[in-house]
Amino acid sequence: MSKIKTIEFKDEKLFLLDQRKLPTDYEFFVCETFEDVDFAIKDMVVRGAPAIGAAAAYGVVLAARQFMKYDKEDFIKRMYEACNVLYNSRPTAVNLMWAIKRMRKVLEENRSLETEEIYEKLREEADSIFKEDLSTNKKIAEFGNSIVPQKAIILTHCNTGALATTGYGTALGVIREAFYSGKDIFVYADETRPRLQGARLTAWELAQEGIPSKLIADSVAATLIRDGKIDLILVGADRIASNGDTANKIGTFMLSVIAKVYGVPFYIVAPTTTIDFDIESGKEIKIEERSAEEVTHISGVRIAPEGIDVYNPAFDVTPGENITGIITEKGIVKKPFKENILKLRE
Ligand code: MRU
Repeated sequence: MSKIKTIEFKDEKLFLLDQRKLPTDYEFFVCETFEDVDFAIKDMVVRGAPAIGAAAAYGVVLAARQFMKYDKEDFIKRMYEACNVLYNSRPTAVNLMWAIKRMRKVLEENRSLETEEIYEKLREEADSIFKEDLSTNKKIAEFGNSIVPQKAIILTHCNTGALATTGYGTALGVIREAFYSGKDIFVYADETRPRLQGARLTAWELAQEGIPSKLIADSVAATLIRDGKIDLILVGADRIASNGDTANKIGTFMLSVIAKVYGVPFYIVAPTTTIDFDIESGKEIKIEERSAEEVTHISGVRIAPEGIDVYNPAFDVTPGENITGIITEKGIVKKPFKENILKLRE
């Protein structure tokens, strides 16, 4: 089990391992208010779809603590406003909206209680969201391991590990499981421009575990795939539409196209909380655009000329047809996705 503590709620505060600073500094960003959590999600102190969801749930708990001093009506009104702020802190990963909806339901169902009791109920719900994600990851990892060949050379993109979840990880969780189960695997990790989640976070997690791996520039992946050096591609997801179209870190779509051309299995690894059953296709997924500075600068150092225009979408959508299967805690979903994804709702 990974020892990395990405998110911890203690002493009425939310401690987030500051992912902006890894791997050089290991520091915690302490949230005392829901506004702190909103900032932490926007600025990517915490990132990765399931981790954002869990952090936002604790943001609602902090809001309840902040507003307990107000009378009931005011408390409820402020709580809904806080939920709204957190709901909108990042637009693409649906786990965030899913977690806030769960918290809002608890608020609704318990609005007749004293504010202190509502706080307790919200705290219990956030703890459940946290714990469920951890156990879900373990189940995903076990299903996922079943498709990993004994000596697989695996390519992964972005960070989908303990840092992106409440522990263990999704795609990186499958990699962990394969390694722990004694398979002789090797991992290529894309650096994942522009935020470098692969170089800064995945490489750090792989090194901590001692999993044999190499870090590559994103543009190396195509050559490795063409040369038959990749057996399997495992990536995460931020939102999966009912037809299997999947939004994930920018660059995922490009990998899927190359994988299809060269016949390399391409799997999405995600909990069912990442499925948006309300949307029919990827066309309905809102893709976050982030600041120009993420592209023009690396670690605060300018690498592009002043005044250059930048297009910086944080995610792209991989069409379901490019995906071999979707590994979830309920099993591995195969085509036809439209039919088989719906079965997960039951
Ligand atoms: O912008 P990020 O770092 O939040 O993007 C993260 C990803 O795209 C991950 O692949 C995805 O959230 C799955 S994490 C288990």
